Amino acid sequence: MAEEWRCAGHTGDLSDDAPLEYKLDGTEIGIYKVGDALYALENVCPHAYALLTQGFVDGDTVECPLHEAVFHIPTGKCLKEPGGRDLKMYAVRLAGEEIQIKVE
Ligand code: FES
Repeated sequence: MAEEWRCAGHTGDLSDDAPLEYKLDGTEIGIYKVGDALYALENVCPHAYALLTQGFVDGDTVECPLHEAVFHIPTGKCLKEPGGRDLKMYAVRLAGEEIQIKVE
């Protein structure tokens, strides 16, 4: 089956400290820009319910707005509890100005 990629926004919508929220078939995804790289991560904090994109981005980490768990954006790794586990990552790419997420 051919790969399917969906448009999640445009590069102009994204900056280093303001990630993009995107819903892929009901799944919340956060898209982050760290330097020149783009990363797409599961956006609901595994601890309880909070959208990580509404938290605090500091370089290559994001802090949950609710109980301050910290996750590493390039790997999804939980760096500070109470995150509970690492975040799932999604494939993301640029097609011109368009940010695309791979449908799994
Ligand atoms: S909901 Fe994220 S740390 Fe509790």
